[in-house]
Formats: sequence, C-alpha cells, structure tokens
Amino acid sequence: MRENTILEARHITRTYHTSSVPAEALKDCSITFETGEFTVIVGPSGSGKSTLLRLLGTLDAPDSGDILLRGKSILNLPDAEVSRLRRQEIGFVPQDYSLFPEYTAWENVILPLRLDGQKENAEEIEDIFSLLGISHCRDKFPAELSGGEQQRVAIARALAIHPAIILADEPTGNLDAENSLAVIQLLSRACEVYHQTIAMVTHDRQSADYADRVLTIKDGWLTEDV
Ligand SMILES: Nc1ncnc2c1ncn2[C@@H]1O[C@H](COP(=O)(O)OP(=O)(O)OP(=O)(O)O)[C@@H](O)[C@H]1O
Ligand SMILES: [Mg+2]
Repeated sequence: MRENTILEARHITRTYHTSSVPAEALKDCSITFETGEFTVIVGPSGSGKSTLLRLLGTLDAPDSGDILLRGKSILNLPDAEVSRLRRQEIGFVPQDYSLFPEYTAWENVILPLRLDGQKENAEEIEDIFSLLGISHCRDKFPAELSGGEQQRVAIARALAIHPAIILADEPTGNLDAENSLAVIQLLSRACEVYHQTIAMVTHDRQSADYADRVLTIKDGWLTEDV
C-alpha cells in the first residue's frame, strides 16, 4: 500500500465463460491508485483494459481477489451502496458512451446528480460543456450527435458529479488531435486542481506525457512502465 492509496485491486482475476473457450481476460492483477494520480493504461486490443476498468468501476465483479476503496472492499455490497458509489465516488466514461437516447446531452449530464437528489450547478456544467467544445450540443439527443460529441457528453457526465475517481475507457478514441488534447488537459487539470484520481485507457501514446505513470496490459497481465 502506498501513502495515499484511494483505490486498490488485490490479485483480481476475470475469466469470461460466454463462449466454448474461456477467455482469461485478467490474470492476477494487483494495483494501487493514489489520490490525485493520473494513470494511463495502454495495451493491445483484447488485452483486458476494459475488463480491468469495469471491475474497478463496480460494473463487473472479479472471479477472485478483492477491490478496496479507501481500504474497504467494494465487492458484495448491497445494490443501494453500489449505486451510491457510482453516483458519488466513481465517475465512469464507458468505451461505448452509454448515453440515454431519450434524453438530451444536458439531461444526460445532470441525470446522475438528480438521481442523487442534488441540484446541478448550471454555470459549472456550462463551463464543462464549453471546455469540452460541446456547448452547441446541449439540447440535442444522442442520435443527433457525432461519435466524438457523444464521447465528450459522457466525459461531461462523469466530471459533473465530482467523483473522487474517474475511470475513462478510451475517452479520446473518437476525437481529432485538437479535441483529444483538450480532453487530456482537462482530465490532467482535474487531478491537479481537484485531486481527483484518474485512470484512463488509451491507444494514444501522446497522452502518456500528461500521466504520472503508464500501465501496460498484455494478454491479461498488468505491468508498470519504469
Ligand atoms: N462479455 C465478454 N464475453 C466474453 N469474452 C469477453 C467479454 N468481454 C471481453 N471479452 C474478452 O476478454 C478479453 C479482454 O477484453 P477487453 O474488452 O477487456 O479488452 P480491451 O483491452 O479493452 O480491448 P479494446 O482495446 O479492443 O477495447 C478479450 O479476449 C475479449 O474477447
Ligand atoms: Mg476496451
């Protein structure tokens, strides 16, 4: 355990049994995340990056091992507590955005706050939209947005709840160079200014320049770049 560990995975494994040949997606993975740390996770397609992020984000459960938030296991919690964690502690930017099609971009972003009984700070959310370059999207529905615009709405949704941890799965995968840089700088600033802890999966090696460390996954094995 390092000094200011907020999130920790201990010997977690995950094997998918959906096809005739089991897919060992994550093998004995142990990792700690410090408060305010910006971690970039890289690795080939199919190496287990999304699997790791989904386990850390309580969207899936490991077959063995434990995951701890501030020293307390987040496995086998009651549903209400898992929902609370996802609304307040862990902001997740999924690889497929997962926006609600029947709500506008703005509504998608404020929904988690409303579900948590909070009133949104409209000015602040407008700032987030502006920093992400999606102000023109606020009253549009996901189907009316490009992939890159939807991606940034998903990022805004995660930022708006001020989570202690942001887990972002290829948040720049659909963006051009300029917008990718804006997203990475915004996330990097969130670490510095708000001491948020960020783990970001990416294929963009350039973003490593902004990271405190880079983790690599290959065939389900996690290693830290030194
Ligand atoms: N729901 C699932 N059912 C069965 N196998 C799965 C499932 N999800 C992922 N896998 C398998 O687990 C392995 C890791 O998948 P994962 O999605 O974690 O990879 P990834 O590193 O995120 O890849 P990419 O860069 O393409 O997003 C792959 O072999 C994949 O085929
Ligand atoms: Mg993935």
